[in-house]
Amino acid sequence: MGQIRIDHLSKIYHQGQENEVRALDDVSFTLEEGEFVVILGPSGAGKSTLLNIMGGMDSPTTGTYEISGRDVSKFKEKELTLFRRKDIGFVFQFYNLINHLTALENVEMSAAISDHPFDAKETMEKVGLGNRLGNFPAQLSGGEQQRTAIARALVKNPEMLLCDEPTGALDSKTGAAIIELLHSLCFDFKKTVVMVTHNAAIGQVATRLIKVADGRIVSNTINEHPLKPSEVVW
Ligand SMILES: Nc1ncnc2c1ncn2[C@@H]1O[C@H](COP(=O)(O)OP(=O)(O)OP(=O)(O)O)[C@@H](O)[C@H]1O
Ligand SMILES: [Mg+2]
Repeated sequence: MGQIRIDHLSKIYHQGQENEVRALDDVSFTLEEGEFVVILGPSGAGKSTLLNIMGGMDSPTTGTYEISGRDVSKFKEKELTLFRRKDIGFVFQFYNLINHLTALENVEMSAAISDHPFDAKETMEKVGLGNRLGNFPAQLSGGEQQRTAIARALVKNPEMLLCDEPTGALDSKTGAAIIELLHSLCFDFKKTVVMVTHNAAIGQVATRLIKVADGRIVSNTINEHPLKPSEVVW
């Protein structure tokens, strides 16, 4: 995937004629390949907005987003589609599962658009859902839907995994197991993982912690000794 470079990036939403919301306000940072990044901040800070731009699903109002020196906002539609399909695994804050497909089918569909996916059933087992393969999303608990959404992103074996509050609906034990999986993708498979949370304790598992508030970066620090997920006190 290479280096990620975000430079003076802003996102302004217009509501009506007068009202504008500065969801991201002059944000700049650089990530090296293989980092485990946690983006921490309160509700409304701009975390999802940032992740959506990094996932190629939204574009900045001003500023640039580059991967390996290539400006993503200049990608042609086809290139952007391939980027989303092949390079990115995305865990949505509100899951976005397809309701008329079973949990396994949701994951299989995602595997089908990847060039080198993991096995769909094995990935479901890894997130602890080996016994829920045939359930439709409506037949799953909130935490199980969230884990299905995580499996759907993981199964692609993506170069970069972007996770929006992936442990929000999980108890501490399941949450730690999920972060363990994300750690493994990062450290064993050398992929870049970016995880959004408002839970400060989770920040301790990161190699880089970026704190955001009101659309701005408050701090950006490297952690030489990230905690193991099992060591986090939630
Ligand atoms: N499509 C949109 N149109 C208008 N305003 C928006 C839109 N999306 C987000 N915003 C506003 O931008 C700001 C940042 O929103 P964002 O969803 O990025 O926050 P967040 O940090 O992800 O919050 P949360 O922790 O609650 O998920 C908020 O003030 C929000 O109301
Ligand atoms: Mg959000």
